[in-house]
Amino acid sequence: MACTRFLTLNPNSLRPPIHISSNVRALSSHMSPPSTAVFYEHHGPPDTVTKIIELPPVEIKANDVCVKMLAAPINPSDINRIQGVYPVRPTLPAVGGYEGAGVVHSVGSAIRDLSPGDLVMVSPPSSGTWQTHVVKDKKFWHKLDKDTPVEYAATVTINPLTALRMIEDIVDLKSGDAIVQNGATSMVGQCVIQLAKLRGIRTFNIIRDRPGSDQAEEKLKKLGADEVYTESQLDVKNVKSLLGNVLEPALGLNCVGGNAATLVLKLLRQGGTMVTYGGMAKKPVTVSTSSFIFKELTLMGYYVQNWLTLDRNEECREMLDYLMGLIREGKLKYDMELAPFSEFHTALDKSLGKLGSQPKQVIKF
Ligand SMILES: NC(=O)c1ccc[n+]([C@@H]2O[C@H](COP(=O)([O-])OP(=O)(O)OC[C@H]3O[C@@H](n4cnc5c(N)ncnc54)[C@H](OP(=O)(O)O)[C@@H]3O)[C@@H](O)[C@H]2O)c1
Repeated sequence: MACTRFLTLNPNSLRPPIHISSNVRALSSHMSPPSTAVFYEHHGPPDTVTKIIELPPVEIKANDVCVKMLAAPINPSDINRIQGVYPVRPTLPAVGGYEGAGVVHSVGSAIRDLSPGDLVMVSPPSSGTWQTHVVKDKKFWHKLDKDTPVEYAATVTINPLTALRMIEDIVDLKSGDAIVQNGATSMVGQCVIQLAKLRGIRTFNIIRDRPGSDQAEEKLKKLGADEVYTESQLDVKNVKSLLGNVLEPALGLNCVGGNAATLVLKLLRQGGTMVTYGGMAKKPVTVSTSSFIFKELTLMGYYVQNWLTLDRNEECREMLDYLMGLIREGKLKYDMELAPFSEFHTALDKSLGKLGSQPKQVIKF
């Protein structure tokens, strides 16, 4: 596992901030700088269990790389890890965050292919990115072209890769086919729209009813969405009549559950497949018996983490490089709000939905 700083802490002692003297800085070139981190000792509501603390320097071993973090997103799975409801989560106490990017600060004695100043991202993603300095084994760092926008490097793995794999892996889609998805305003949803468009695949997009849904529709159309409807606009007798000239979708993507999942099922073609990859509404997926028997739908789940393992790292990095190529060419973009680290708890409140619908919050260190 990664050498994560929080493992060195005594869980019973939340130390007051450490004031670094010049003696500590001069300790040794094999020690990291102290790190300011979003830390939690217990699972619970993220806005109450997380604290910003200063962690002491840690040893940089021969194969370690110490990175000064520049950006890291707050993803729904980060929230669920802190809540303690996500199946895969770090042991406590822990530092939040799972993906991110930064510049190499210093390297261990055995490192030859990374140098201070290199832009890197955490790949595969692993715990503890919400802190100013992260020390991990070199196998967790992927070097990037210097011209890669750092907020994209920090966010390209979990969501864009999920969008790409769901389009590629589940149904054999061809140009002219269609996808229906809910949660279309999510980062995954925005990427699905653009990656589908690049392949000539049309998208029928469902968003929730909320203030600003007209602007959300406009934004998604600018990204290439063919059709965008709120859930209530789809509350009609013959929902398929709204497909217009979009072919009945072969693939449905569900990250919401409840009524939004039912709508995806209704819009699927005979023999179509719905993939559930998230549950933002925290409501179950309900399927009629006839959907299985007569419409012959297939329902399945998807978890990108199955790609994000060290033994698939090379394959995975090729896909990330492909996505970052699209980003650099301006063919893939998504909404983000950069939040200064000093305002972490406001960004967290936004991610928790306490301030209404907000773009993805990306901490800027
Ligand atoms: N299975 C996997 O491998 C995998 C990988 C990546 C992501 N995911 C999942 O994919 C989903 C989207 O992730 P993301 O990071 O792309 O999202 P995001 O950019 O953080 O956006 C959140 C999305 O959820 C919607 N939402 C929030 N609360 C909702 C509610 N109560 N009812 C309905 N919709 C709600 C938001 O809609 P508004 O725009 O209307 O606020 C927005 O579309 C999450 O469930 C995440 O866990 C799964």
